[in-house]
Amino acid sequence: MQSLPISASGWTAKGRQTLPAGLQKLSKDLDRLVGSGKFKLLDWDGRCVFFTSALFPIECIYCRQTVLLLDVQDRAVSVLGGVPNSSKGEAWRAVAEDASQALEQCASASSFSNAQLHGRRGDFASRTVGFGYGNGRLKPQNFCISGKTNRTAVQTLLQNQSIRRICGFQSNLFNSFNHKNCRESREMIRDVCERQPELRVNFSHSPFAALTFNLGPQSWSPPHMDAENTASGWCADTALGNYDPDKGGQLVLWDLGLVIRFPPGATILFPSALITHSTLPIQAHETRYAILQFSAGALFRWRDNGFQSDKDFLAHASAEQLKEWASKRARRGKLALQKFSRWADICRGDWKGQARTDAGLDELSDLTDLDISESDVTSLTKPMCKKRSRRT
Ligand SMILES: [Fe+2]
Repeated sequence: MQSLPISASGWTAKGRQTLPAGLQKLSKDLDRLVGSGKFKLLDWDGRCVFFTSALFPIECIYCRQTVLLLDVQDRAVSVLGGVPNSSKGEAWRAVAEDASQALEQCASASSFSNAQLHGRRGDFASRTVGFGYGNGRLKPQNFCISGKTNRTAVQTLLQNQSIRRICGFQSNLFNSFNHKNCRESREMIRDVCERQPELRVNFSHSPFAALTFNLGPQSWSPPHMDAENTASGWCADTALGNYDPDKGGQLVLWDLGLVIRFPPGATILFPSALITHSTLPIQAHETRYAILQFSAGALFRWRDNGFQSDKDFLAHASAEQLKEWASKRARRGKLALQKFSRWADICRGDWKGQARTDAGLDELSDLTDLDISESDVTSLTKPMCKKRSRRT
């Protein structure tokens, strides 16, 4: 993960990377992507099996068919979470179909400007709700949705039980497979909302400050990074709609060299700020929607500066405060990497990484265990608990 483009502040990513023209040409064509030899097709079925293990605390879920993407130092870079076992088979299909219908109704009840229909993430309608900071805002603010009808349509989505189940499942996956970063995100949201009680959250206790509904009708994106999202957190992405996942809608993680089959109803979490990603086009008669949750990296910076911007902090900081600020800034990127869950810890039941915390490794001043050689920056994929795999 050290090779990924974390910014100097450690909170967000560096500016968007542009792909070489040769790779851009491949970005819409599955056969050419895989045929280029630069990508591996991960033929994921989008399902997993959950059960509660006696080894784990009650809130922990353990997946036998979930796939974790690990870096060379055993860190969970991404989780292909699938669907919860409590709703396996037709039950989850019904949840996904109900959520898709709700998104269709929202889209048909809403109006969108031309700019909203043709953004840098693709040619489809979308709505973002929750709160963020940056892009000219003077302090954290709720995202503005113009027009009472549009606001009502989005609020209706937030009350929809199927959408709430999907969002809750996304939060559970974040908590279970990236626990320390999830906890930090929850604490940030709590602190910012205590400071500004006027802010409205989408869901209580959620580790995500914002949610985007991709309303289609054909939501797929060219290669991009979401550099303003928090660098050490995950973006949760649930695909919905009616499309053939073998012929379109695959998620491409360019830095990892992976094309991932992404069926409707399945969920994937990954660091969208750091990894260039895209989705492949679906067929002309199909529909594809998505529910994405994330948090802006600038919110963490605001909180860490004592609820003020860098500019205001630096204007009034003492020499001692300035020294500490610079020291934390220099170390933040590496310390954030320390918080990603380790495969070995998960395997022995320490999904919270408590042993590493108790050993002081989360705040280790000598970060030499993070040093790797240039040749080591490839990623690996490992199915969890291979020996016990059983599909249901
Ligand atoms: Fe994205």
